[in-house]
Amino acid sequence: MHSPMSMVYITRKERFNAAHRLYRPEYSDEKNLRIFGKCSNPNWHGHNYTLLVTVKGDVSDETGFVVNLKELSRIINVKVIVPLDHRNINLEVPFMKGKLASTENLAISIWNELEAGVESLGAKLHCIRVEETENNRAEYFGK
Ligand code: NI
Repeated sequence: MHSPMSMVYITRKERFNAAHRLYRPEYSDEKNLRIFGKCSNPNWHGHNYTLLVTVKGDVSDETGFVVNLKELSRIINVKVIVPLDHRNINLEVPFMKGKLASTENLAISIWNELEAGVESLGAKLHCIRVEETENNRAEYFGK
């Protein structure tokens, strides 16, 4: 017998440190500073990022889980933390190549990196939240 399904949202938090620069190469340093602020520093700078990955799904009768959070953490680490951690986002992160290294673009790109892996666990990606500082964060819920 099946009990009624209950959809639950669960979130895994991970952290990474990375360097970046927000700029357009065709702009002068002055214009980049005006538009992108301190994040346009020509000599790079770093942030201690926090990543929150929220997935949704039905709670398994067998395990009581939506997904096994250890497995979710492993996928997040393989797909996004290892490529990002202690890297230069502009220069070294394949999935950010050719994109402005903004919090918004990180959230979209991380979604794209994780979507298939989350589905392989039998859940759906719900939200990617990237916190660049205590005050600035971006959330992406898919298209
Ligand atoms: Ni910055």
